[in-house]
Parts: sequence; C-alpha cells; structure tokens
Amino acid sequence: MIYVDSIRKEFKKTIKQPGLLGSVKSLFKPKTEKVVAVDNISFHVPKGEILGFIGPNGAGKSTVIKMLTGILTPTAGSCTINGKNPQKNRKSYVKEIGVVFGQRTQLWWDLPLCETYAVLKEIYEVEDSAYKRKMDLLNEVLDLQDFIKSPVRTLSLGQRMRADIAASLLHSPKVLFLDEPTIGLDVVVKDNIRRAIAQINEEEQTTVVLTTHDLSDIELLSKRIVMIDKGRNVFDGTVDELKSNFGQMRELHFELANEGDLTKLEYKAKFGLTDEDVTVKNDKSKVTVRFNSDCVPVGDMLSYTLSSIHVQDISVRDADIEEIIRRLYKKEVIADA
Ligand SMILES: Nc1ncnc2c1ncn2[C@@H]1O[C@H](COP(=O)(O)OP(=O)(O)OP(=O)(O)O)[C@@H](O)[C@H]1O
Ligand SMILES: [Mg+2]
Repeated sequence: MIYVDSIRKEFKKTIKQPGLLGSVKSLFKPKTEKVVAVDNISFHVPKGEILGFIGPNGAGKSTVIKMLTGILTPTAGSCTINGKNPQKNRKSYVKEIGVVFGQRTQLWWDLPLCETYAVLKEIYEVEDSAYKRKMDLLNEVLDLQDFIKSPVRTLSLGQRMRADIAASLLHSPKVLFLDEPTIGLDVVVKDNIRRAIAQINEEEQTTVVLTTHDLSDIELLSKRIVMIDKGRNVFDGTVDELKSNFGQMRELHFELANEGDLTKLEYKAKFGLTDEDVTVKNDKSKVTVRFNSDCVPVGDMLSYTLSSIHVQDISVRDADIEEIIRRLYKKEVIADA
C-alpha cells in the first residue's frame, strides 16, 4: 500500500548574522545553510497494517509524514501510496488518505463540530447514507455526542483530538496518518483513541502509519515498527524481532526479608558492571534489579542474590519494549549490534 524509496528532505535555514547590521544584511542578502531532515529513508507498509513509526525528537518523522501526505515535496527519492504519487495526484490522493497532526487541529475553530463534519462531507463528496453510517460509527467509537454541537475552540484537548480523528476518518480513507495522536492526553482518552484506531483498522482494513512517543500505543496497536534517527532508518521489523534481537535486558524482582539488606548487594563490584548494565531500584522492601544478561548470566545474578541475603518471592522478567527502545535511542544497542 505504501512504498517509500530513499526519500530525502533538505531545508534551507537562514543564518542571521549578529547585531543590527547583521539583521539588515540578512534581510537583503540572506546567508543560508542546508539542513538535512530526512536522509535516505525507505520502508513499505502492506495493506491493513498498523505501522509504528518511531524515533527520538527531531529524527525526521513529521517531515516524512508531511512528504507522504503531499504537504512537502521530497528533495530526492519517491513515495507511492495506493499507486499514487502524493505530490502529482494531489486532488484525487487526498480523498484516499486521512491525516491527524496531534500538535495542531485541522478543524475550523469557530464552527460547531457537527457543521465542520457537514462541510467535510461536501468537500469529500461523501454520500448521505454513507455519511450517516460513518457518523454513527464514529460517534460510537469516539464518543462524540457530548460535544458535537460545541464550537471547536471550546473543546478540551481530549475532545478535540477525538474530533480531529473522526474528521480524518469521515471519508473512509484507505490510509490513515496519525502523527502523535495521543500527545498530552489522559489514560482514559488514550485508551478510547487506541480502541477506535484498532476498530477502524479491523473493520475497514485501513492501513495506518502511527507516530508516537508513547510506546504503549505501539505495544497495543502495532506488530511492526520502523524506527528512524537523524533522518535515517535504524530498525525495521516486528516488535517480537526487536525484543529478541535487542532484549538482553532482564529484571530481577524480589522482596527483602530485611530492608537494611539492600546495601549488601554489590552487583557492580561483583560482576564488574557499569551503571548502564545494572540499576537497582527499591520501593521499601520491594526491589527491582535491571541488568544486561549479555554481561551476567541470569543464573549468576540469581545465585549471587540468594546467597548474599534473605529474600522472598524472587522472579525474573524480560525488560519491556520501553527499555529496549530507550537503549536504542541512546545508540548503545546499535553500536553493539
Ligand atoms: N520547515 C523547516 N525548516 C527547517 N528545518 C526544519 C523544518 N521542519 C523540520 N526541520 C528540522 O528537521 C528535523 C526533523 O524534524 P521533524 O519535525 O521531522 O522531527 P520529528 O521526528 O517529527 O520530531 P518530534 O518527535 O520532536 O516531533 C529537525 O531538526 C527540525 O528542526
Ligand atoms: Mg514530529
């Protein structure tokens, strides 16, 4: 459904010279510098998939989404979505996609929400019966009824985000681009939005590209991840592959019989570990030791702990995706891999 082939985006940034004279000079003869925001990114997304598109701040995610939605034109490379080029087939292309940028609304500020939807219905040429069916479904999954008659400017952030998502889905797009749709929302609204995305994806086989910094969104919705950093691909694979390739972090959980015993555990000295390879946290007598199982085998950690102090309820768990990605963002795992 989506083919992205070596896309690149350069921006020109004006460099202002210091002082008033500098400002005047920059006005008439601006000095510019090239910024490479996206540098040779490729991936593809089959129909019906929810792709988790992630990376640290400034990685180039929004710039990629803007190229895929036709807002920006790539400096080099190409993208094809449902056989169309977003820049060349702009008019027919926008009917096939839905876009939500969590950071800003695309709704009309002063119009009541229901009127906004009525306008969008005309713009997208949605038939009456299809519109009614769609509104009923969106009302149900996104719970819009409480504020559908209110002007957009009076909506809370959570209501506005639900309203924006509904607006992007009104014309039953084949592809939905969501750039941080859960940013700044409470857990209840996040949950509502995740369910809505899952339901639409299942019922209509909508292909979804989802950008987020909340990795629970990814765990709950995506099987596959494309991760970028500094404008380049760093990982493309399933969540399971990510876990098995990079998930060497493990967690030891136990309860101390005697709270003061924690000081007797000296994992770093015993196994020659760095701060990154082992961290010990405790909440009163409950202790979590996170460690790199490539550096110390799980058995050695267990036997050292059990022989040093008296503990209750000891267990070992895999580190979660959050931990793996935190390490990937910090580049340690990439350097090791
Ligand atoms: N219009 C622009 N002009 C100049 N530089 C830009 C422009 N838009 C983006 N950039 C730069 O391109 C880089 C990538 O930005 P982008 O917004 O795509 O990152 P992102 O991955 O979406 O980050 P975040 O997670 O913070 O939203 C950044 O260094 C940014 O400053
Ligand atoms: Mg962004």
